[in-house]
Amino acid sequence: MRVLVVGGGGREHSIVWKLLQSKNVSKIFCAPGNGGISDLAECVPIEADDVFRIVEFSKKEKIDFVCIGPENPLANGIVDELSKNGILAFGPSEKAAKIETSKVFAKKIMTKYKIRTAQYEVFENFEEALNYVNGKEPPFVIKADGLCGGKGSYVIRKREDAYSVLEDLFVKKVHGKAGERVIIEEYLHGQEVSYLVFSDGKSILPLITSQDHKTLFENDTGPNTGGMGAYAPVPFVSDEMEGLVKESIMSRAIEALRKEGVEYRGILYGGIILVGGLPYVLEFNARFGDPETQAILVQMDSDLLPIMVSCAEGNIKGVTPIQWKKGFAVCVVIASRGYPERPEKGKLIEGLENLKDESDIVVFHAGTKKVDGKYYTAGGRVLNVVARGEDINEAIEKAYSAIEMIRFEGMHFRRDIGRKAQMAKM
Ligand code: AMP
Ligand code: GLY
Repeated sequence: MRVLVVGGGGREHSIVWKLLQSKNVSKIFCAPGNGGISDLAECVPIEADDVFRIVEFSKKEKIDFVCIGPENPLANGIVDELSKNGILAFGPSEKAAKIETSKVFAKKIMTKYKIRTAQYEVFENFEEALNYVNGKEPPFVIKADGLCGGKGSYVIRKREDAYSVLEDLFVKKVHGKAGERVIIEEYLHGQEVSYLVFSDGKSILPLITSQDHKTLFENDTGPNTGGMGAYAPVPFVSDEMEGLVKESIMSRAIEALRKEGVEYRGILYGGIILVGGLPYVLEFNARFGDPETQAILVQMDSDLLPIMVSCAEGNIKGVTPIQWKKGFAVCVVIASRGYPERPEKGKLIEGLENLKDESDIVVFHAGTKKVDGKYYTAGGRVLNVVARGEDINEAIEKAYSAIEMIRFEGMHFRRDIGRKAQMAKM
């Protein structure tokens, strides 16, 4: 099969890496890709959300299968457009992707179909929202309805902060149209877990559990980012809890969408929080998580291609459960100085060659570019160092020793990725 992967982050690098292990991939392209991806795939200079050019390219290059990484092209209806042109694509339709692209839509579905989530109110007006927060004790959470690149949710601990957040959303319109509607919801206190499932719109095929580290600094402090690291699987999620998430959240969501006339094909990502022994949904995403996918895919033994193709074709019935390697994978994100606000770019990355032949370590690139055989930083999140180990401690140790080999000016990373898994084991 001639395959095109859309996107250019660490997630897409890991998808390209995994797909290349499939004997059915004859040629792989990536749009736009990055420095690391260019070593594996033919990178095409088309932005991920340029639906028109991706469709044209796919027709011209006779692409058999397109896998969509990020949310923006899904929101722009890329899967619908590819399908209209007879090209098989992995990912939900624009309508189905609303589960991520509108938090209000997702909340309504959850309420109607009794999927556990935080209590909430919706506001379309600055004064009404202000009035509401005046009568509400922090902590609570304010969320923009639409896509904000992971920066649209604000945990409010002091009421004054709510005023400035609401002003940013409604008056300064920092997120544009995405912030025209706002959710204010209860703060839930618990452990967060990411749970991803493949779906053909009827049934689901689960992946292993994983945990993201969303904040910039250690001990879950500082501003939220796209994700500073992840590990998989999560040792403190029991089989019983996993069953509950699978049945009462993920299967129910697919069924709910179906009842609403929407067939959800692709990956459904549940951002789950465990509160008092019960799982609640913080958010749904309509795609693979980043950086969770980088940790999950190195643990996967099964061939990824036929699973994705079956989802896209609407028939995963015949697909056998996914086989997983034993042990754990840890992914540590290395970011540029200034991330997430104003990341520096153009710094020479050194030392990657030291890690090329390590069997349990793989470095997936995110914001990098390759010029004359050298890699340079080109974005906020730069590299994902992924290590496998028989236990979580070994995986963590290997990941951090690998990082010692890598250098670029201003690089920074969290030193506590996986610590919650270690604590759970003690
Ligand atoms: P979201 O964009 O909805 O995934 O939120 C981003 C992050 O904000 C989550 O990963 C949580 O850490 C935090 N968060 C969101 N909603 C809540 C909530 N209701 N209670 C506690 N933390 C939350
Ligand atoms: N890791 C969080 C996300 O992909 O949205």
